[in-house]
Amino acid sequence: MQSKKWWKEAIVYQIYPRSFLDSNSDGIGDLQGIIKKLDYIHDLGATVIWLCPVYDSPNADNGYDIRDYHAIMKEFGTIEDFDKLLSIAHQKGLKIVMDLVVNHTSDEHKWFRKSRQNQENEYHNYYIWKDGKNKAAPNNWGAVFGGPAWKYDKSAKQYYLHLFAEKQPDLNWENEKVRHGVYDMMSWWLEKGVDGFRMDVINAISKDQRFPDGEVQPGQKYGNSWNYVSNGPRIHEFLQEMNREVLSKYDIMTVGETSGITTEDALKYAGFDRNELNMVFQFEHVELGSDENGKWNDKPVPIPELKKIITRWQTGLDRKAWNSLYLGNHDQPRSVSRFGSDGKYREQSAKLLATLLFTLQGTPYIYQGEEIGMTNVPFQTIDQYRDIETLNTYRKLSAQYPQDPARVMRYIRAKSRDNARTPMQWDSSPHAGFSSVKPWISENPNYPEINVEKSLSDPHSVYHFYQKMIQLRKAYPALIYGTFLPFGEEESKTFCYQRQWKDQTLLILLNFSEGNASVPIPKAIAQRNRKLLISNDSTRADQTLSQSITLQPFEGNVYLLG
Ligand code: GLC
Ligand code: CA
Repeated sequence: MQSKKWWKEAIVYQIYPRSFLDSNSDGIGDLQGIIKKLDYIHDLGATVIWLCPVYDSPNADNGYDIRDYHAIMKEFGTIEDFDKLLSIAHQKGLKIVMDLVVNHTSDEHKWFRKSRQNQENEYHNYYIWKDGKNKAAPNNWGAVFGGPAWKYDKSAKQYYLHLFAEKQPDLNWENEKVRHGVYDMMSWWLEKGVDGFRMDVINAISKDQRFPDGEVQPGQKYGNSWNYVSNGPRIHEFLQEMNREVLSKYDIMTVGETSGITTEDALKYAGFDRNELNMVFQFEHVELGSDENGKWNDKPVPIPELKKIITRWQTGLDRKAWNSLYLGNHDQPRSVSRFGSDGKYREQSAKLLATLLFTLQGTPYIYQGEEIGMTNVPFQTIDQYRDIETLNTYRKLSAQYPQDPARVMRYIRAKSRDNARTPMQWDSSPHAGFSSVKPWISENPNYPEINVEKSLSDPHSVYHFYQKMIQLRKAYPALIYGTFLPFGEEESKTFCYQRQWKDQTLLILLNFSEGNASVPIPKAIAQRNRKLLISNDSTRADQTLSQSITLQPFEGNVYLLG
């Protein structure tokens, strides 16, 4: 059943607060900065803001290592600033979804500080502690950010598990007190009036309690833990419990970050009949092209594969669960650099990607700066990067390719999370209008060309195209609820489909290449009346019906069929 829900009709705008707008000239974005730009987000047409973590944190991983779930990070402001942000956003009709990071905390969280003191105290079991094996770690798992996933602690005289950085110890969800501690904290934020949660690495909270060694890939030092920590034995029990205890009591939106899942898994997390989450972020399209170095390469995205993945998710979840749609976020390279082209066709391809994003079934997520076509950053040296994952990977790849430093930098430039974390480009004044002082990470040197001020003043800009696509989505329910019907699956450059809902049918034609591409239109479609609703090619006009159509480089069109 495709019942109507506000979160299915939502347009989400993701903010990475550290890089959004600095209101007090310390080089770091903050809550007051966000308050200043609520009208900008509202005018774009977004209805929900997803705030990356704003909680008190020592920032080993930019806020994904939380020291106090009930306090705001000093650099970002105070809890009063937060309350103000929430109430002004609500007045403007914008909802706020918080990042919920509960697979792990900071090692500076009070639970962990007590936990590590000795093995007897009641907090010890809040985290995952194990004795060593043969004077080494309990198993061979590697951490996502490099190095081993276990760290020995002298006072506890045991090893603790950290799937990410050392300063991010994993919580022990087997312990009922941990689960209820988390639920109480969630209720506290919901009582404040927040509108939902984006749940960080939520499919990793239930670990295989045998903690077996993982498979070691050729050339790698550590074993892979993912098979033993993701979609674990009690994951659905935990999420159903969380739903029962907390989520079901509020009219909120929930989205789980779930890397490595299939459509079958997604039906379990987000199936309409499951009482778990509203939707999940799948990773197949952003993991395309991974190889023995994981994501670290600079291969182009194969469009036929991309089409297959999107088609599988669109059809696999139709009427059973709900998709979340995204092409970029704070962990991914800039979408236009990756799936489009950031040279000559930057604007054209950014608009093409917007056409894709807003014409699929699911809730679309815009990552800050995507709406003006911000690109990857051409940092030349490693000291310009800030991200812990990038810095650790640089060390690892440099040891792996000692003869080829240029290759290492190519991979870093293609995939570093910092591509998405450079300051938001507001205008052409120094530091891109983000701050009046040198920001915590350098701005992308292309800000005099690519910025909000310019985009707002040009009616043909990427920004205005996003705005129009959002309006179109709000005007045609087929774009939200319609079934996805692809055709021309064998074409390697183009992606074509219809969206159909009741008596409304829309036709979407997308060219993902730098050249012209001809699209064969099936007879049944070609015979119908066709009205052009939007195109990123200003010369495209309504055409009489024909069996094929030639698209310009990166052209994208949406038609209403009569
Ligand atoms: C998620 C976040 C990422 C963070 C990691 C550890 O993947 O999106 O930014 O580093 O979890 O919390
Ligand atoms: Ca600031």
